[in-house]
Amino acid sequence: MLEALPLLPDDPILGLAAVCRADENPKKVDLTVGIYMDENGVCPVFEAIQQAQNMLVEREVSKAYLPPAGVAGFNPGMQKLVLGEGSTALADGRVSSIQAPGGCGALRIGAEIIQAASPGARVWVSDPTWPVHIPLLGSVGLQFSTYRYYEPQTHGVNFDAMVEDLKGAGAGDIVLLHGCCHNPCGADLSKEQWSIVGDMAEAQGFVPFIDFAYQGLGDGLDADAAGLRHLAERLPEMIIAASCSKNMGLYRERTGCTLFLAKDGKSADALLSQAKVAARRVYSMPPAHGALLASTVLSDSALTANWQSELHSMCGRINGLRSDLVEKLQASTGRDFEFIRAEKGMFSFLGLSSDQVQTLRDDYSVYMLGSSRINVAGVNARNIDYLADSIAKVL
Ligand code: LMR
Repeated sequence: MLEALPLLPDDPILGLAAVCRADENPKKVDLTVGIYMDENGVCPVFEAIQQAQNMLVEREVSKAYLPPAGVAGFNPGMQKLVLGEGSTALADGRVSSIQAPGGCGALRIGAEIIQAASPGARVWVSDPTWPVHIPLLGSVGLQFSTYRYYEPQTHGVNFDAMVEDLKGAGAGDIVLLHGCCHNPCGADLSKEQWSIVGDMAEAQGFVPFIDFAYQGLGDGLDADAAGLRHLAERLPEMIIAASCSKNMGLYRERTGCTLFLAKDGKSADALLSQAKVAARRVYSMPPAHGALLASTVLSDSALTANWQSELHSMCGRINGLRSDLVEKLQASTGRDFEFIRAEKGMFSFLGLSSDQVQTLRDDYSVYMLGSSRINVAGVNARNIDYLADSIAKVL
């Protein structure tokens, strides 16, 4: 029976990263997976996380299962981090959350809840979106429509087209939004645009589902949450999939959280009970290590300050790299790359053809996704000239 299953191709992102790892060219440039890398090309452990880890090694006395909602202090810490200390929804007690295995696990729990509430519900996804969204959410039986989002000609959001398309989203529909640092394009909604999306959600009754994987890597922890918090103040219902992979560097620890904003506390409790049952069905209970580290950092003011300052430097470095890249690319190609500076977070589309991307891989060992999405955080002082010159050659 099992032998009938064919060999599948590797994942387009993870598979490409493996090809890049195997490339022995000392000049290779890895701009594939969305991982923050420092000047030495290393994905660092945050100092605060390292300290929390040392404390945990000293104190941990058991490896017994966690309860299905996760580490006790983790959920309140994440709720405040995502929604902000001043959140009315939090004060009104209409928020619940469950720890989940990474941002993907958080998305999956959100999808399970949507499917339970409305089997086969329609989820509106941006064009383009992270390639895993559709298989991940679709595997529970949800259906999809796309709304236009990124405009390659302008390298920005085509908001008129987005609004036009979202006029088709009604009560019972879900609209998946990237909370900040859009993956793959890096083009985010402005404050005014978030407010218009809020108007539409209020008038039309759709429920926003926010993928919030990059808080703190665009403009800062609070600034990146502004759009989402605006919606949370206005709307009765919302789901948020938050991740600690990038902003705490806990990638391999699979640490995330699904937050539910409900019309009242009773509904929030009901959603949490549903989420616990969904988790039991899928993976039983979440992994402990990452959430113990995150909750230790979030509950200790000195560790929080240390973490936030390191995250702030990372964010500043990414924005600095964006500026450097604009200047180097403009100098080497004579073309306009100003859009890279305006975009947020780890990603930008360079606007190269798939042939040009392939030539960069084959002839220069420069690796980016086939769509020409680059991970800006893979650029550093040692590879930036080679990268800009290689791009100039393929252009
Ligand atoms: C990415 O888009 O590169 C990251 O979100 C990592 C992943 O799982 O694809």
